[in-house]
Amino acid sequence: MTFHELIRHRESIREYDPERPVEKEKLQRILEAGRIAPSAANRQPWRFYLVSDAGYRKRLCRCYPREWFCNAPHILVVAGRYAEAYVRRSDGYNTLETDLAIAMDHMILAADAEGVATCWVIAFDPEMIKHTGIIEPDEKVFAITPLGYPPKNFVRKGVKDRKSPEEVIKYI
Ligand SMILES: Cc1cc2nc3c(=O)[nH]c(=O)nc-3n(C[C@H](O)[C@H](O)[C@H](O)COP(=O)(O)O)c2cc1C
Repeated sequence: MTFHELIRHRESIREYDPERPVEKEKLQRILEAGRIAPSAANRQPWRFYLVSDAGYRKRLCRCYPREWFCNAPHILVVAGRYAEAYVRRSDGYNTLETDLAIAMDHMILAADAEGVATCWVIAFDPEMIKHTGIIEPDEKVFAITPLGYPPKNFVRKGVKDRKSPEEVIKYI
């Protein structure tokens, strides 16, 4: 797959086969894509938690109670510390959320390249996730995604429902 084929192919998948875990080497390559992602001033203010343990997945499931999410054999939690991120002097803007979003996108695309399904999830309960025992008290979670394979008969959407180029691109 070329890069352009990859970004067209990736889509949010909301059905997972609970009986089919992802191979360890694939998981490692996905996490490596996050580890080598760029960040402001190369601060790398992130921590990636790959949760495969059934007990911890159950705790995460309570933070985002959707059957498809709870069925996934792995959940990736992307967290970070504001104190480790770059802060722009002129206005105090902290880049943590930008840095984590880039790392997350790297991993989501890497997963697709490995044939592994994902769905970026932000609508979890941010208060509950603090008490899962997964992240440190000074860390903040910005993104989670299930990792797994859809069931055998699953049909992908295969279309991108997006605004037109005219609506979002301006050549100046
Ligand atoms: C920052 C972000 C947060 C998202 N949060 C959720 C979520 O909480 N639940 C969900 O089902 N999908 C979530 N999505 C998936 C979007 O709904 C999806 O990316 C969008 O509809 C485009 O569809 P596609 O990913 O299949 O191309 C999120 C996506 C992004 C980028």
